[in-house]
Amino acid sequence: MVADVSAAAKGKVYLVGAGPGDPELLTLKAATLLRSAGLVLYDDLVPPAVIAMAGRQALVVSVGKRCGVKHVQQAEIHTLMIEAARQNLSVVRLKSGDPLVFGRAAEEMDALRAADVPFEVVPGITAAFAAAALIGCSLTDRRTASSVEFYTGHKAADQGPSQESPAEAATRVVYMPGRSFRSFAEDRLQAGDAADLPCCVISRAAQPEQSIQWSTLSELGGVVPGPAPVLLLTGWALAPAAARDAGERANDSAPLSVAPDCVPAHDL
Ligand SMILES: C[S@@+](CC[C@H](N)C(=O)[O-])C[C@H]1O[C@@H](n2cnc3c(N)ncnc32)[C@H](O)[C@@H]1O
Repeated sequence: MVADVSAAAKGKVYLVGAGPGDPELLTLKAATLLRSAGLVLYDDLVPPAVIAMAGRQALVVSVGKRCGVKHVQQAEIHTLMIEAARQNLSVVRLKSGDPLVFGRAAEEMDALRAADVPFEVVPGITAAFAAAALIGCSLTDRRTASSVEFYTGHKAADQGPSQESPAEAATRVVYMPGRSFRSFAEDRLQAGDAADLPCCVISRAAQPEQSIQWSTLSELGGVVPGPAPVLLLTGWALAPAAARDAGERANDSAPLSVAPDCVPAHDL
């Protein structure tokens, strides 16, 4: 019999990316680990359809924090993972998107290393990639964008002001941008970004209610985002997608023209 090498090993913790929401965007490895885990600890943004993939033997526990309101303290999550692994359970620590992008994985890996608990990271599709796929925009473009920068609008309380450096030809992706983009737009304009820089606010990428709002940097302050989670993208690499969207909206509002050789049915 061939051993199932991707089944969850006992006494080990897996930091697993659940992707942006669509269960079909989960990796095969994540699905296999979920089916065989003894304990699943999941965050708020992980959709129910993914949580439902856990096997019947698994204890499934929400350890989410919403809008900074902590239901479970970070230290408690560390203790839960470490204790369960020491009791020889296979633990899946399930995080939305990719576990290594704005997911406090650094603290969790530090705690696991300090406790000498074996762990493995299983990558997932981060929200930026789902958002870029949704609007059909390459995050890099050799003509306009030579780098991609991931930011967060939300920082640890004890951190000082952000050290953002102005980056020419960068696509910026802002995770947890908050509900108002006014100060972000003002800061970027002051840093020298162009007023007509394309911006896109994407709500719930890769989920049934996904929505897209386009603007320029100078208009961004007036954008009211859709329901959370929301991602903000800016940069010249977005320009072709923005132009396509503007073209589609212009076509939608243009009166229907009837081609000369096209006779309405009631005239036949
Ligand atoms: C705590 S961070 C986690 C990011 C996650 N680890 C990832 O790689 O996508 C949560 C933020 O990710 C963004 N996000 C996550 N899923 C999203 C989605 N489906 N659509 C839009 N933004 C999303 C939002 O900015 C949200 O506030």
